[in-house]
Parts: sequence; structure tokens; C-alpha cells
Amino acid sequence: MVQDAPTACLASPLVVEDLTFCWSTGHPALRHCNLQIPRAGLWMLVGSNGSGKSTLLRCIAGLLQPQEGHINTPLRPALVFQNPDHQLLLPSCGSDLMIGLRGPMGTDQRQQAVLQALGQVGLLGFEQRPIHTLSGGQKQRLAIAGTLAAQADLLLLDEPTALLDPESQREVLHLIRRLCSDPEQPLTALWITHRLEELDLCDGAALMQGGRVGPWCSGAGMRRQLAPLPEGQS
Ligand SMILES: Nc1ncnc2c1ncn2[C@@H]1O[C@H](COP(=O)(O)OP(=O)(O)OP(=O)(O)O)[C@@H](O)[C@H]1O
Ligand SMILES: [Mg+2]
Repeated sequence: MVQDAPTACLASPLVVEDLTFCWSTGHPALRHCNLQIPRAGLWMLVGSNGSGKSTLLRCIAGLLQPQEGHINTPLRPALVFQNPDHQLLLPSCGSDLMIGLRGPMGTDQRQQAVLQALGQVGLLGFEQRPIHTLSGGQKQRLAIAGTLAAQADLLLLDEPTALLDPESQREVLHLIRRLCSDPEQPLTALWITHRLEELDLCDGAALMQGGRVGPWCSGAGMRRQLAPLPEGQS
């Protein structure tokens, strides 16, 4: 199975080795895929439609079982989807966070943990708010609060800003940037995007093609690599 890779580097927040995943149709979505995140921070994956990005995140999250390879992480992974409506379950913000809490806790502790998660994403005061009254950006921040309440420290974000307006997009991106730069307990985030301007805030970016991930480079380097050439050049 996919834990405890023999050659994985223990200092790394995530090591993916030689992962192969085929759908039941026989279509290989991941082909001997390798990926190593060097340290905590915000790491981005880009790549064309169908290159395997979402499949890779689902394997790392444990939702799909690869046929070959290893995934090694000392961290607790959690997915954040493009559409927060797909992961917010209960009617109010507070109750939604409450069900994700881990471990035995007293009532006061649970209350405190919910308030802490809301505070971390800038939603203090929203505990009683019905989820359907939130904006798209607020819903996405609540989904992120849910991962924090569940003590996840490896956030797997699959185009989390694709449905958001520019201001909410910036808010969510800067929130994750801040959580990944925390001087005491920086999170590790693997963020899939088709929005090239988001690359400016990452610690490294890699291109996925045909079920494999290429080497890390800077966000600016990736933007240059992907930017269309000026007209007249080929
Ligand atoms: N449930 C499924 N059953 C069969 N094939 C699937 C399924 N989901 C995805 N695939 C196939 O697996 C391949 C990789 O898909 P995946 O969704 O991982 O790509 P992606 O890089 O996330 O694309 P996008 O940028 O469009 O989100 C594609 O060829 C896709 O058609
Ligand atoms: Mg996808």
C-alpha cells in the first residue's frame, strides 16, 4: 500500500514515490509520479486539464488507492475543494466546525477550538451564522477553518479560488499564505491552480503533465514558462 516508503526522506512534509493510478476504465491518470515537498510552505501545482492534478491530491488525501507507489507524510492531510458547498455540511458555521473536531474534549474546550478556528480565518463572530448566508469567499474560508479544527497540517487545495471573485480570491490566497508562513507552526499547502497570478505568492511551483510532476521552480519562473509568447514569436 501507500504508506512508509522505504526511501522517503523523513524531514520532508510529503514524499510521493513512483505513484501509478489507473481508473477502472484502464486509463492511467498517474504514471510513476514523484513529488517531494522540501519544507512547510505554499507549493503550487499547475498543468493542463486532465494532467492528473486532482487525482494526485485525492491519492494523497487517501480517497483513492494507487495501484503502485508510496506516499509518506508525517502530517495530517485535508482536502479543500473548488466548491465549498461540497464540504460544508451543517446549517451554522459553529456546528459545521464542531463536528470536525478531533479527540475527546469537554464542552468549553470544543467551544474554544471552534472560536480559534474561526479566528484563524477571519470569521470571528460568525459562529451562529447560517452557512447559506455566507459569501463564496467566506464559505471557502469556513471550509479552511474546518481543516484547521480537524487539526490538519497538510492542506490539499484543488483550485480553491476558481469560483471566487477577485477580492475573495485574494483573501483566500493571502489567508493560506499567512498560515503557511506562521513562524511557530507553519502549515504545508499543496495548491492546484489555473490562475497564473497566484503563482506570485508560492514558495515553489511544479508543472504536471501526463500524470507526472516536473521539478520545482519559482512562481515567477513558472509564469515565464507558461506565459504565451508575444505575437510574432514562436
Ligand atoms: N471518475 C473518473 N473515472 C474515470 N476517469 C477519470 C475520472 N476522474 C478523472 N478521470 C480521468 O483521469 C485523468 C486525470 O483527471 P484529473 O481530474 O486528475 O485531471 P486534472 O489535472 O485535475 O484536470 P483539471 O485541470 O481539468 O481539473 C483525466 O484523463 C480524466 O478524464
Ligand atoms: Mg482537477
